[in-house]
Amino acid sequence: IIVVLDFGSHYNQQIARRIRELGVYSEIHPHTITAEEMKKLNPKGIILSGGPGHIHSEDALTIDKNIFSMGIPILGICYGMQIIAAQFGGHISRNGERRYEPSTLQIKDGGPELFKGLPAKMDVLMSYGDVIEEMPAGFVVDAESGSVPIAAISNTDNKIYGIQFHPEAVQTEQGSELLGNFLFGLCHCTEDWTMQQFIDTEIKKIQDTVGSKKVLCALSGGVDSSVVAVLVHKAIGDQLTCIFVDHGLLRKGEAESVMETFTGKFHMNVIKVDAQERFLTKLKGVTDPEQKRKIIGNEFIYVFDDEASKLEGIEFLAQGTIYPDIIESGTATSQTIKSHHNVGGLPEDMNFTLIEPLKALFKDEVRQVGTELGIPDEIVWRQPFPGPGLGVRVLGEVTEEKLEIVRESDYILREEIKNAGLDKDIWQYFTVLPGIRSVGVRSESRTYDYTVGIRAVHSTDGMTSDWARIPYEVLEKISTRIVHEVDHVNRVVYDITTKPPSTIEWE
Ligand code: XMP
Repeated sequence: IIVVLDFGSHYNQQIARRIRELGVYSEIHPHTITAEEMKKLNPKGIILSGGPGHIHSEDALTIDKNIFSMGIPILGICYGMQIIAAQFGGHISRNGERRYEPSTLQIKDGGPELFKGLPAKMDVLMSYGDVIEEMPAGFVVDAESGSVPIAAISNTDNKIYGIQFHPEAVQTEQGSELLGNFLFGLCHCTEDWTMQQFIDTEIKKIQDTVGSKKVLCALSGGVDSSVVAVLVHKAIGDQLTCIFVDHGLLRKGEAESVMETFTGKFHMNVIKVDAQERFLTKLKGVTDPEQKRKIIGNEFIYVFDDEASKLEGIEFLAQGTIYPDIIESGTATSQTIKSHHNVGGLPEDMNFTLIEPLKALFKDEVRQVGTELGIPDEIVWRQPFPGPGLGVRVLGEVTEEKLEIVRESDYILREEIKNAGLDKDIWQYFTVLPGIRSVGVRSESRTYDYTVGIRAVHSTDGMTSDWARIPYEVLEKISTRIVHEVDHVNRVVYDITTKPPSTIEWE
C-alpha cells in the first residue's frame, strides 16, 4: 500500500487513482495521522499531497515528524515538498497566490532514480506561489523550470523526494512514469491491484464474515447498489435478499429493467415493493424542493423498514458506500462537497451489521468491477440519477399527470441522444417540467399547454458543469417528437446555463 497524506489539494483523489492505475493499492489519510498509526498501515511509500496552505503561516498543516525517520520512501508534491524543505531546515517564501500553469521542466544531469527514463525536458503542470529560497540540509536540486529554479529536490540516502509540479495532473505528460519510478524503483511495490483480484478477495471476505447467515440489500438500480448486490450474491447466493422500492419516481422502463436484470439474468431474490401510491400521497400539496427531498428520503426508509421487518433472521445489510463517500466525510482537510440527502441512505440505527465491500473503490473502479461481474453496460454506465428521481424534475407539486409528461419526454430525449450516438459523450441529460403553461396552436385551434425543458450537461463530478452543445438537428428532432408524442405539451426549451450559477437539476 502507498499512503497519500491529505493536505487539502483538489488533486488528492487523482494521486491515489493514478497509483491504482499503475496496479498498486493506495489510500488517502488525513495529515494528522501519527507515526504509530502509520506503522500499522505498513506502507511501502508515503506521498505528501499538495494543498492550498503556506508552510510558514500560523495555521500551517504539518505531519508527525517521526514519520520522516521511519525509513519509508517519501515523495512530497507541491505543498508536500515544502513540508519536507521546512522539516530539514530550508526556507520557503511566498510570492503570490497559488496558481497552476503548464511549464517545461529541465532535469539536471544525473538526476535521481525518480526521473529515470524520463526526457531531460518535459511538460508539467507547475504550481506557483511558494518557492524554496534556502535549501534544506542534505538535499540537492534535481530540476528547474523557468521562474522556478528549485522545482525538484532529493535526499537519496534517506529516499526523500520533493517536486513542485503535479505528476497526477493530465498536463504532466510523463506523470505516470514518474509515479511508476517512485512506486517500483524506490518503494519496490509489486503490481497486484487488479479488479479481478479485488473481486476474489472480497468474495472470500464476505463469505468469512457472513457464514451461513442472511444478508439484506437495498437495490436502487444505480451503479453502486447493483455492483454490491451482484458481488454479495456471487459470494453467498440465496442467503442474499434484495429490496427494490419502486417509488413511482423512476424513469420510463427502469423498474422493469432492474427486475429483469437481477431476477432474470442473475437469478437473485429481489422483493419489488410497489409504493407509488404511498409516495404520491405523501407528496400531495408539497411544493418546496427540500421538503420534497426529505419526504421522499424518509418515506423510502419507512417502506424499506416495513419490508425488512417482514423478513426473518437477517443479520447483515450490504451497502454501496464507495471511496469518495468516505474521503469526503472522513479526512480532515478535503473541502466539503455539497452533500445531497440521498434516497437509499439508510439510518444507522437499523439493527444490522454493515457490509460495505466497495468502500475502497473509486467510481471508475466500481464500474470495472461491475463489468467483470457481467452487469450490463446500461447499468454500469448509467448516467447519474438523483435519489428523489423525477420528484425533483416535476417542479412544484408532483402529480401523476406531470410525472407522465416527464417520463415520456425524458424517454424520447434518451432515445434520440442514443440514436445520435451522443449517449456516452454527455454526462447527464434529462427533461424537466417547470409547470408553466403557454399558448400554442394545433390543428388550427388554440392550446394552453405545458412547456418541457431539456437539460444536458458535461461534468466530471457534478460540482460544476457546462451545457452540452447538442447539434440543432438533434434538438429539432427531440422537440418535434416531444410536442407530437407527449400529451399536454406544446413547447420545448433548452437550458443553456452553466453550473454555477445554476445547478444541474432545476430543483
Ligand atoms: P445539482 O442539481 O446540485 O446536481 O447541480 C449535481 C448532481 O447531483 C444530482 N442530484 C442528486 N442526487 N439526491 C441525489 O442522489 C439528490 O437529492 C440530488 N439532487 C441532485 C444531480 O442529478 C447531479 O448529477
